[in-house]
Amino acid sequence: MAETLSEIYDRMARDGALTPDAAQHAVLPELDCIRTELELREGRRRSLLGGLFGKAPEQVRGLYLWGGVGRGKSMLMDLFHAQVAVQAKRRVHFHGFMQEVQAALHAARKTGVDDAIRPVAEDIAAQLRLLCFDEMQITDIADAMIVGRLFQMLFDRGVTVVTTSNRHPDALYKDGLNRQLFLPFIQLLKSQLTVMELESETDYRRHRLQGAQVYFMPSGSAAAAAIEAIWHDLTGGGGDGPLRLSVKGREVTLPEHRSGVARASFWTLCGQPLGPADYLAIANAIRVLIVEDIPYLSAENYNEAKRFVTLIDALYEARVRLICSAVDLPERLYVEGAGSFEFERTASRLREMQAADWAQARAAE
Ligand SMILES: Nc1ncnc2c1ncn2[C@@H]1O[C@H](COP(=O)(O)OP(=O)(O)OP(=O)(O)O)[C@@H](O)[C@H]1O
Ligand SMILES: [Mg+2]
Repeated sequence: MAETLSEIYDRMARDGALTPDAAQHAVLPELDCIRTELELREGRRRSLLGGLFGKAPEQVRGLYLWGGVGRGKSMLMDLFHAQVAVQAKRRVHFHGFMQEVQAALHAARKTGVDDAIRPVAEDIAAQLRLLCFDEMQITDIADAMIVGRLFQMLFDRGVTVVTTSNRHPDALYKDGLNRQLFLPFIQLLKSQLTVMELESETDYRRHRLQGAQVYFMPSGSAAAAAIEAIWHDLTGGGGDGPLRLSVKGREVTLPEHRSGVARASFWTLCGQPLGPADYLAIANAIRVLIVEDIPYLSAENYNEAKRFVTLIDALYEARVRLICSAVDLPERLYVEGAGSFEFERTASRLREMQAADWAQARAAE
């Protein structure tokens, strides 16, 4: 008999890998139950040669786990996903999944089908029994208008969904355009998924960064190794791949992200013509940004410097934690020439953002 998730969690707590948390523990029986049912069904499917007898797929009720930032929702979902013995499973960032869906819909429409959602849903359901979504949120009207029918078809075909979110289903797509057309999706989620709040008091992400060094200099192999270790600690090492954001019809890409943490070099972030709207979108999409290799700035690379100022302002406003490596101290990054005066505020913010309680202090304002 395989270890239950509760047992694995307890073992990790004993080993010091996790701080025992009663609120997290309270979610585990539900996940264990889903795991057991999925594995039972998997066993039956195999013994029936993959359902050759044409029976309708049995439905296994999923979970919608919501709550505040850093409470451990993604960590619990990842634990579940890693352990569940189901072959046709996938863990994906919700936003990335919807982008794939939109691309598939686009391709299906080109073939002239009447209802593009159907073949796309059928294709997904043919490949997957379990979909684990990290960070379900809907901000895009194009997504809002299709999720109802898409997910109805997935559920009808026996796909189980486990998802994390910062909002209760009732608050999804809040104040969105044509929200009344979106309401059936909320009803669907509530009927197909058990809705649970992760009521933990602790923001473990903040906890993990508390007292940790977050500004590394000079950049180089030692700084890179330290940053790699932090990335590993916050994300478990693996990445979800690039995070693609659409801003005013353009695409802005962060090369690597997972569990609210994104990572990019200074040149990726500031070496291309991005503006305030792009940096705001980035800041609003993540909780921690790792920026590597900030160079000396001057009139020579004025555009990059200006973008860096805009980036830091956006991160500051959105209270995103910043972890970075730089060639020198904040005050020495931009010492002379046009723009150096404006940079003083940025240097000061870089200092302030290093404080252990910075994000929290700002949140309380
Ligand atoms: N009980 C715990 N003990 C120690 N570390 C934990 C615990 N729970 C979570 N963590 C760590 O805290 C960090 C934040 O957790 P996680 O990403 O799962 O939060 P979340 O609820 O998904 O947050 P968000 O809403 O921002 O996505 C991760 O690095 C995770 O491994
Ligand atoms: Mg998360």
